[in-house]
Amino acid sequence: MPPAAAVSPPATPPAAPAPPPAARPANVAPSPVREIPALTARPEVILLVTTGSQQALTLLATALLEPGDVVLVEDPCSLAALQAFGFAGARAVPVPTDDDGILPEALDEIAARERPTLLYVVPTFQNPTGRTLPAARRAAVAEAAARHGFWIAEDDPYGELRFEGEPVPNIAGLPAALPEGSRWNRPEGGMFVWATLPGGRDAGALLATAIGHDVAYVPGAPFYAGTPDPASLRLSFTTHAPDEIAEGLRRLAEAFA
Ligand SMILES: Cc1ncc(COP(=O)(O)O)c(C=O)c1O
Repeated sequence: MPPAAAVSPPATPPAAPAPPPAARPANVAPSPVREIPALTARPEVILLVTTGSQQALTLLATALLEPGDVVLVEDPCSLAALQAFGFAGARAVPVPTDDDGILPEALDEIAARERPTLLYVVPTFQNPTGRTLPAARRAAVAEAAARHGFWIAEDDPYGELRFEGEPVPNIAGLPAALPEGSRWNRPEGGMFVWATLPGGRDAGALLATAIGHDVAYVPGAPFYAGTPDPASLRLSFTTHAPDEIAEGLRRLAEAFA
């Protein structure tokens, strides 16, 4: 399939537009512009502007996948991605993960067995787990792709939402909110904390109780392409101010009591 859009430097750069009048108040820092390697790389690197990840994934699935093709996904994985691959008729095969994301050895084994066309991965502050893949594992994933000949679709909607070194008040309140024996991670950015309840509790079944206390979360089970973990849940910490999050956690503690 021909590329929908290709980036190549124009022979004669277009005249630069006149700078706009300063609309930004002096005390507001300009937004940081991330240097995207693809934009500064070789002319044959393809750039396609889409209206979000979901559209990009749908186009990617249409271009690269035939019905029945295997797509490897982290387990659990973003729901939006599972839907896009499902619509293309692909089979999502889960790759086991731990607290640092995808397990390279498992990826290697599964790739040898399943002959995947594509690996879909959110390596930084993943949805739903907030996990980040360490550099060594990224290299191992790239090597596996080269060895087995599959594409990698790297989705990075959260990489710039890094807050390392700053206080994370919502996570600090979790011990009081979740039942004793719960586990959760501490992402250094992104939008999500991934938690697991103890003693066979079902986060999906408990959601109605939580809503009864005017607080909600996303049960984790639907994010799994493989066997779901009913005790898992996703908590988002981006929309609300710290005092609202504290109140939400207080309500969650009541709901889980
Ligand atoms: C990892 C990931 N990819 C894609 C999407 C969909 O993104 P968009 O709203 O840009 O289509 C989401 C949204 O939750 C997401 O978390």
